[in-house]
Amino acid sequence: MKKLQKAYFGDITQLEVDAIVNAANSRLLGGGGVDGAIHRAAGRELLKECEGLGGCLAGQSKITKGYGLPAEFIIHTVGPIWRGGKNSEEEKLASCYRSALDLCLLYSIQAVAFPCVSTGVYKFPKERAAQIAIQACDQFQKCYPDAPEITFCCFEKEDFERYQRLLSE
Ligand code: APR
Repeated sequence: MKKLQKAYFGDITQLEVDAIVNAANSRLLGGGGVDGAIHRAAGRELLKECEGLGGCLAGQSKITKGYGLPAEFIIHTVGPIWRGGKNSEEEKLASCYRSALDLCLLYSIQAVAFPCVSTGVYKFPKERAAQIAIQACDQFQKCYPDAPEITFCCFEKEDFERYQRLLSE
């Protein structure tokens, strides 16, 4: 199943896939990090659509159009804030990947790219986050033959090397 997953080093806003995933916060109104980059690249119309979404809980995902992006859709997922690991952070992170992939099935999305959700401002330990991401995606792709191809888009070289290593194991 790993052939349906690959690592990419670069800026997610440039990717020509059907959907990119945003690591958003629960208000869904933009922010820093990858969220800021996506809102800047997509343009003001994205914020307008997001204002009508009513926010989103940690571990869940909502979808919008891609506007100025090459991607047709943006799936906004809200990762957990790392608070030591005993507050269901791992379950919520896995749920981010699953809920985003659920939307991919619903919208017939065949290629999706994820950033390293929760591992920036939200401080989730990076190695564990990558293991959870790959495992959640593996399980989903095994269960659903129509699941999309998945790109793990890494903005930092060490993350790219981490995903390459984990995907080859
Ligand atoms: N393309 C791909 N990945 C990126 C990009 C980009 N253009 N910019 C940053 N990243 C990577 C970071 O290197 C990190 O690995 O995204 C990953 C997630 O980091 P954050 O963007 O900080 O996301 P997260 O930890 O989930 O925190 C979410 O940050 O900006 C706010 O509104 C956002 O409040 C929310 C919080």
